[in-house]
Amino acid sequence: MLTTQEQLNNLRLEVQKCTKCSLCESRNKIVFSDGCNNAPIMFIGEAPGHNEDITGIPFIGRAGQLLRKFMFDVGFSKDDFYIANTIKCRPPQNRKPKTEEKEACKRYLEKQIELVNPKIIVLVGSTALESFIQDKKLTISKARGQIFEIDNRKYIPIFHPSYLLRYHSMDEGTPRYLFKKDLEMIQELIKEG
Ligand code: URA
Ligand code: SF4
Repeated sequence: MLTTQEQLNNLRLEVQKCTKCSLCESRNKIVFSDGCNNAPIMFIGEAPGHNEDITGIPFIGRAGQLLRKFMFDVGFSKDDFYIANTIKCRPPQNRKPKTEEKEACKRYLEKQIELVNPKIIVLVGSTALESFIQDKKLTISKARGQIFEIDNRKYIPIFHPSYLLRYHSMDEGTPRYLFKKDLEMIQELIKEG
């Protein structure tokens, strides 16, 4: 019987060889995950960008650093989270992932969710939101901060940090204010156990 760690390692090796969609042709590195393998919270972003493609680490570029700063500011520790994306390879020019790419890659993400088994899945931005909650009318502005209970797991959408790069104010009601508030709420849920 393989441990969770071993199964995740095997899955990572499988993804390294993946050619299920055309993004395999332009990728430098697959971007599989970062963080703790039995974390209570799993963050799911959109897709790797330039810095992620070079390093193989999700949320390591400018937007990612902003997300991580806010997470640590509200009290997350390294053991609290696992990070992945809806797809593992970088789309050219950072365009949004296509439906067929997300479909081709979905099994890997589903397996990661099954193995990490987080209490809360944080859907970071509209691409992750659309992948998990099928409601065309639901925008990220409406959905953020709400808790969606699906198959005994909580899904909580938040803004994508790249959106925050354009708005610097922390005043009440601003994107950064709401982003921090949502992360604080998530942190509280984890502390409650
Ligand atoms: N944006 C994302 O959605 N994911 C990353 O890994 C980096 C930036
Ligand atoms: Fe495979 Fe996913 Fe990369 Fe497409 S994005 S090649 S499905 S790992």
